[in-house]
Amino acid sequence: MPYCYQVTSRLVVLVSGAGTNLQALIDACRDEAYGAQVVAVGADRPGITALDRAERAGIPSFILRLPDYPSREEWDAALARTCAGYQPDLIILAGFMKLVGKEFLEVFGGRCLNTHPALLPSFPGTHGVRDALAHGVKVTGCTVFIVDEGVDAGPIVAQASVPVADDDDEATLHERIKVAERALLVGTIGRRPGCTRPASRSSPPAIRRPGSPPPGCRSRPWRN
Ligand code: GRF
Repeated sequence: MPYCYQVTSRLVVLVSGAGTNLQALIDACRDEAYGAQVVAVGADRPGITALDRAERAGIPSFILRLPDYPSREEWDAALARTCAGYQPDLIILAGFMKLVGKEFLEVFGGRCLNTHPALLPSFPGTHGVRDALAHGVKVTGCTVFIVDEGVDAGPIVAQASVPVADDDDEATLHERIKVAERALLVGTIGRRPGCTRPASRSSPPAIRRPGSPPPGCRSRPWRN
């Protein structure tokens, strides 16, 4: 019988607002069996509730404001450097309202996930909920996808659908989508076995450094 090794992924979560997706991840990570830990929270602005959530949970945070840098490229490079300092396995954009750039993707391409409040490839961009409503769709939802150089255009990892009610406005629909979005994000990131091995060994391996998979394992806890 093969058995599973649990891989603990180190997450850096980037935020710009309320941080309810961040909170869902923090809560899930309290269970060791979830297989992930939030090692840092990064923001593009001060004074947001998401940063209070990080502080309450005792998670280190950092703020990198675009206007504090001479160019977008330099901000992007600083973001990549700062995130890399926490040695993350995955970067999660959870309501992060900035596009990451070339330099960031050179470091984190393929291991940066974003969540979007619409069923991509429909309704990308900042107003996914508003645009879906305006189009008159009867079903919308949310998407977790791998970030690439496009706008909400990378490979789709997971989706959940949400029906649109006749009396929905942007706020009510977004709140309902966010309930599905939190569950989707939490379900996508954690509780992924790293690999299986034949049962020729009688016991699981000794404790590993968080984030380092056993030899020969894929370090990604999700697959596209
Ligand atoms: C989410 O719906 C996300 O998809 C969108 O902004 C919202 C962020 O919510 N980009 P929160 O900050 O996690 O509460």
